Amino acid sequence: MTMDELKRQAAARALEHVRDGMKLGLGSGSTAKHFVELLGERVRGGLNIIGVPTSEATRADAQRWGIPLTSLDDIDRLDLTVDGADEIDPFFNVIKGGGGALLREKIVAAASDRMIVIADDSKFVETLGRFPLPVEVIPFGLSATRRAMAQVFAETGGSGQMVIRKAGNSHAFVTDGGHWIIDAHLGRIADAPRLAELLNSIPGVVEHGLFIGLAGMVVLAGSQGIRVVERP
Ligand code: 5RP
Repeated sequence: MTMDELKRQAAARALEHVRDGMKLGLGSGSTAKHFVELLGERVRGGLNIIGVPTSEATRADAQRWGIPLTSLDDIDRLDLTVDGADEIDPFFNVIKGGGGALLREKIVAAASDRMIVIADDSKFVETLGRFPLPVEVIPFGLSATRRAMAQVFAETGGSGQMVIRKAGNSHAFVTDGGHWIIDAHLGRIADAPRLAELLNSIPGVVEHGLFIGLAGMVVLAGSQGIRVVERP
């Protein structure tokens, strides 16, 4: 089975948790894209839901599939968010933001009663950090922000290259919120919750890709089948 087929399987399994009348957070990335497409099929078949997209790309996809959309300004809470991930550890700590949508993804996940993370099983790791940690930053004062980040990494026992993410045209990648992303190549994140807390205290950091305490269920699709793990 191809990686893409595994992603679609994980998306299909998460769809089983969607009920009529739900308000849904719609994730971003290639796995979440499958979920949006499958959800669109159900909507065409009469399912009544409303979604909040986590990126402009997902908004366009959802509109293409005829999924009714709203915003967090018009509703209180979401019942469920389904989103992909770049890495997931056994404690349900997650790295997200490979696609650059981490800020809206975290706002939407935090406004949801429940988050289901969907992925192929290559994303499951013992320790986070092999995937470079995306950190969304304000371009103003970037050097000061980088120095503060390096200090935080040193404090938590890490170090590594910090690379400003580039768009295809070699200019800095600009997020939907108008910010830049620094990808921190840490190799190993020994204490993800502590690192998350410290990064939150840096003024130039808008948000980072560590999702701590947000994922309630992880659906991992692999060649041996689908593994569903729920946070106790
Ligand atoms: C986007 C994300 C994605 O969910 C993450 O990068 C996984 O993407 P994919 O499903 O394409 O592997 O966080 O910001």
